[in-house]
Amino acid sequence: MVRPVEHLQPVTTLTVREMKRRGEKIVMLTAYDFLMAKFLDDAGVEVILVGDSLANVVQGQSTTLPVTLDEMIYHAKLVRRGVKRALLVVDMPFLSYQVSIEDAVRNCGRVLKETGAEAVKLEGGLPIVDIVQRLVDIGIPVMGHLGLTPQSVHKFGGYGVRGKEQSEADWLFESARSLEKAGIFSLVLEKIPSELAKSVTEALSIPTIGIGAGPHCDGQVLVLYDMLGLFEFPGGKPPKFVRQYAELAQSVRNAVQSYIDDVKQGKFPSERESY
Ligand code: KIV
Repeated sequence: MVRPVEHLQPVTTLTVREMKRRGEKIVMLTAYDFLMAKFLDDAGVEVILVGDSLANVVQGQSTTLPVTLDEMIYHAKLVRRGVKRALLVVDMPFLSYQVSIEDAVRNCGRVLKETGAEAVKLEGGLPIVDIVQRLVDIGIPVMGHLGLTPQSVHKFGGYGVRGKEQSEADWLFESARSLEKAGIFSLVLEKIPSELAKSVTEALSIPTIGIGAGPHCDGQVLVLYDMLGLFEFPGGKPPKFVRQYAELAQSVRNAVQSYIDDVKQGKFPSERESY
């Protein structure tokens, strides 16, 4: 279905809260450059996240830990140029907000000031509530992120499902409530059991956005290159929460192979493609 996106109002932090109230699902995807961001915005995606997953899918790193604030800002500036309507959110990278409130204010402030994004996303629960509170108090909108928080991969010992133990589920629930009280406008829930995501979603007045957290969240997010079938997972199989809507990796490989064959055989360029 083609929708006249240019006639729609820009999405704000208020819009997504109202969408939850109306029971309207929120669509979020990641983007890392101008071209892809424009495709998403033109299609009507409501929230575009410059995810620190760019460490994996753009930079080829094995975790998100090495990506720097300057690199996030660079990509956010590219994305900003392609986004006219969606709410633009930028992930704060590891160690850019955890050290002190002062650090967090300076770094999150830099992101909003230098990129034109409307909000930041921070991973973590109870230990970062004071930081979130301060950011929101001074006017920086914050999206929370609980469950499998990839910046804590070494603490977790891998990328498994979180919140299966009752004690961790309780901690997550309490964190969600405290983050809401501190003023987050929405909350990403990553790779947790559906029933836990359902109870958090029902308990909060702000929207939850799930990734591997089942169908009961107020919205869904996927890493763009995963859902396009562009990122090739080690072992060849994506995790089960990733639905692939295209097979772009294979298309790219086929196209490049055809080009190689044509050039090698003198079939490209033809007379028609020459001056
Ligand atoms: O970095 C990222 O892309 C994310 C989403 C998967 C939520 O945090």
